[in-house]
Amino acid sequence: METAFQWNDSYSVKVSAMDAQHKRLFDIIRELYTAMRSGHGKDVAGGVLRRLIDYTVNHFAAEEKLMKEHGYPSLAAHCAEHRDLEATVVAFKKDFDEGSKAITPELMKFLQNWLTTHILTIDQKYSDFLNSRGVR
Ligand code: FEO
Repeated sequence: METAFQWNDSYSVKVSAMDAQHKRLFDIIRELYTAMRSGHGKDVAGGVLRRLIDYTVNHFAAEEKLMKEHGYPSLAAHCAEHRDLEATVVAFKKDFDEGSKAITPELMKFLQNWLTTHILTIDQKYSDFLNSRGVR
């Protein structure tokens, strides 16, 4: 399953700063998977989960700033997708902290599916638009 959390060229959005951030997201999700597999304590997994949420929120903010600066027409719909994921992972973290949810293969599958689907179907839509404005 580790290979499912590897960035590859098919995920490129043709904007180097965003590709770098997406690679980092894959790295953190892979780290979370490793923590889950190795049976690390809740504190370790909780720390990685916190970093994943923080990095995701920061990435979304950076991506939204870039799209806004260049007048990307689908900004609102894209932001709505971001808010949905943020709400889902923050709710999960709350349940995790309270002990009612654990990091499971199902959660890992959800994160991996969400990340890859979002990049392939939503993020990649801005590639040509931003490239045409000189953003690479
Ligand atoms: Fe790269 Fe829209 O998240």
